Amino acid sequence: MAKKVAIITGASSGIGLAIAKHLQVEGYTSICWDIKAPTEPGIPFYHCDVSQEASVKAAYAKVKAEHGACTVLINNCGLQFLSPIEDFPTDKWNTLIGVLLTGTFLCSREVFTDMKASKFGRIVNISSIHGKVASPFKAAYVSAKHGVLGLAKVIALEGAEHGITVNSICPGFVDTPLMRNQVKSQMELNNLSEQEVLNKIFLKDQCIKELTSVDQVASLVSYLISPGASNITGEALNMTGGWGMGV
Ligand SMILES: NC(=O)c1ccc[n+]([C@@H]2O[C@H](COP(=O)([O-])OP(=O)(O)OC[C@H]3O[C@@H](n4cnc5c(N)ncnc54)[C@H](O)[C@@H]3O)[C@@H](O)[C@H]2O)c1
Repeated sequence: MAKKVAIITGASSGIGLAIAKHLQVEGYTSICWDIKAPTEPGIPFYHCDVSQEASVKAAYAKVKAEHGACTVLINNCGLQFLSPIEDFPTDKWNTLIGVLLTGTFLCSREVFTDMKASKFGRIVNISSIHGKVASPFKAAYVSAKHGVLGLAKVIALEGAEHGITVNSICPGFVDTPLMRNQVKSQMELNNLSEQEVLNKIFLKDQCIKELTSVDQVASLVSYLISPGASNITGEALNMTGGWGMGV
């Protein structure tokens, strides 16, 4: 029997790479869609800029011809930009909304028809706790991540009668190389130890003072696409060590 195809956007590094590896172990053909080549070998890579309709269409046509239709879509790719609102550049706003929100829309729309035809599909969005709460200087990121949760509910409603579930994960701070670099900068800037930076800056809103690991996010993805989660749809699950509890 042909392996089920899981497309993971932004799987060249960080959280997406961990998800791709987990799903591969579980027997899926994991496919990476990204604008940069993977940092590790082993996951089939297709260049795709998720913010561009033509790029998404071309990448999916290629995946379908080479591996078959998509069963699982993980909308994970992303980027960040910080600025006070009065200086926030319009081009940065458009880029973040384009990748985080329009990209999630374009990729979900692209695979939806095939999921509907096969009467089965799983879409998981890696949103953020910033899909539910705000932090200063993150206007575009917070807006886009809130938008992803709304979009997921709409697709969940439209997909339900076709065996398609759509859920979102809302992590707090996840332990990635990028995150560790930010910790390092803050250590130098404020003359603090690593633990002080974590507790005073990054984990100040968490009651469990630990970063989420990429493997923990991947494990929740695995659960959400498993038969045990077939009655969960339209949900946004926090993975934050208690930050944003109850929202
Ligand atoms: N790291 C965290 O602490 C954290 C917390 C909450 C949510 N998230 C979310 O998790 C997701 C993954 O983050 P990460 O920390 O692994 O980041 P990362 O930078 O390691 O990976 C993001 C990937 O997205 C790719 N990408 C960027 N623009 C793209 C585009 N237009 N088309 C296709 N791919 C593109 C990048 O090339 C990169 O490989 C993001 O959506 C992020 O917002 C991360």
